[in-house]
Amino acid sequence: MSASASAASIAAQAFEIRPLNGAVGAEIVGLDLSRPVNDQDFARIHRAHLDHHVVVFRDQRISPEQQIAFSRRFGVLQIHVLKQFLLAGHPEILIVSNIIENGQSIGLGDAGKFWHSDLSYKELPSLGSMLHAQELPAEGGDTLFANMHQAWDNLPEALRKAVEGRSAAHSYTARYSETKFEGNWRPTLTPEQLAQVAEVVHPVVRTHPENGRKALFVSEGFTTRIVGLPEDESAQLLAELYAHSVLPDNIYRHQWQPHDLVFWDNRSLIHLAAGCPSHLRRKLYRTTIQGDAPY
Ligand code: SIN
Repeated sequence: MSASASAASIAAQAFEIRPLNGAVGAEIVGLDLSRPVNDQDFARIHRAHLDHHVVVFRDQRISPEQQIAFSRRFGVLQIHVLKQFLLAGHPEILIVSNIIENGQSIGLGDAGKFWHSDLSYKELPSLGSMLHAQELPAEGGDTLFANMHQAWDNLPEALRKAVEGRSAAHSYTARYSETKFEGNWRPTLTPEQLAQVAEVVHPVVRTHPENGRKALFVSEGFTTRIVGLPEDESAQLLAELYAHSVLPDNIYRHQWQPHDLVFWDNRSLIHLAAGCPSHLRRKLYRTTIQGDAPY
């Protein structure tokens, strides 16, 4: 049966959407994504994603094919530039992992080492990403999310004035080789890979195409400069925006449970991988859904 089969032919599932306390997040309990999801249930999930920005589907025993099919219902999937870390036979899945086998990293070990919005370095950044837990460490490994609508809403007037109407450059390579966690996870990019990640420019404040809200759209991971400002002024302004974005009231910290599937909105949030001790194994599968050009 196709992933988008009509509501008429697929039974509804009884599931609850429970908002988490704090800036963002809701837990979806009782839904089984290994079963077909009808259009009405899909509409509820879509609404929850727009309202809460991060949705946590608990206890999902799904295959890579099922993750891909469910992700595709939200849009076209983006293939990550690091081909080395795509799941064999399923290039739509990026392996996020610190595991080393036969002397080789099996995945991107330090994905998310700086706050970022996925693929903001592309002309069409990501709408949202889904991360499915495969192996979790006994300690650490959390993922943090910051609400960039709230960051914009609460931005001091002077900073608002400083950024309104401005654009910023985003680059995949800017901090590519900087390691925060132990180990050097990053392969040298080939000329073809470099060509796929040429610098782009996006508005510093974007409007979410589905909820109409404004959000700050800069992050320490990929934003390199504010266009049209002297270097020192740009660096100072960005540092203030980064510090403001990740104030404690803006943050949801996700502590992973086995088989969690977490789906976040890259138009509303930035996120950060907190890291875990390097001797503990962590492996997750990420699908990344393409979004619109920011405006
Ligand atoms: C990512 O940035 O996509 C990965 C986040 C994580 O590993 O927690």
